Amino acid sequence: MKPFQNLTVDHMTLLLDCELYDVMYLVFRAVFGVSREEILYERRRKAPDGKREISMTFASRIGRGGAQASAELDNTIIAAVQPSEPAGERSHVREMLADHAAAAHWQHIALRTPDLVAFHRHCLERGVNFITPILVDDHEDLIQVFSGELYHPAGRPSAVFFEFVQRNPTPEAVKMLAEHNREAWFRDTTFLGLYQEKENEYRSGKVTPFIDPELHVRLKAIAGGRQVFELTEDDVAAAEKAMLEHGASKAKTAAR
Ligand SMILES: [Fe+2]
Repeated sequence: MKPFQNLTVDHMTLLLDCELYDVMYLVFRAVFGVSREEILYERRRKAPDGKREISMTFASRIGRGGAQASAELDNTIIAAVQPSEPAGERSHVREMLADHAAAAHWQHIALRTPDLVAFHRHCLERGVNFITPILVDDHEDLIQVFSGELYHPAGRPSAVFFEFVQRNPTPEAVKMLAEHNREAWFRDTTFLGLYQEKENEYRSGKVTPFIDPELHVRLKAIAGGRQVFELTEDDVAAAEKAMLEHGASKAKTAAR
């Protein structure tokens, strides 16, 4: 590799339809802990009426270097997947591409956290859905978990989701997961764990959303048809409260 071929992630761009744009703004604020200062830019255009402004784009800084930054972890990795099932057989990879009428589609981004167990709990408390338990990969010294897809009650699955990872987890964390999570998949099966889970979802037609439709509706009501730049810190707090209430009611149902 030549020095100029040493590429690192600068940013990732996510296209969202209007039904999801403001909800994801609230998710970024309340789930990813993005403060107002970490909204690096927000651009607007004039509405056709010439009076109102409409938000076009915003960029969130969801993490900085620091304690976690180390040359060893500072890698940029692209994983490629093709539909490998025979032509007559169902394939969620083929369907994801076909649904987008595209030969390529960014399916998930993996975000690294220094404490996956804590971040996962934080997300569950706020009603975020996951399609797998935390998976343990002995071989790669990695723990990972996959979120539901970004889509809204009126739409179709987007085939876009998040992976959250922790590299070099402490032996205690791995032991805890092994003991408390009987479903954890080990070594070599993590890719297949995700792959099989997505395949099952697409075959059943029941694709888990990032957040439940009921929570989406509540967040949409908090946004109230306003532009993201009109949403206040009180709105973000109300969104987080709604998420916590929803997360708590889900936890109660799951415990039954
Ligand atoms: Fe991944």
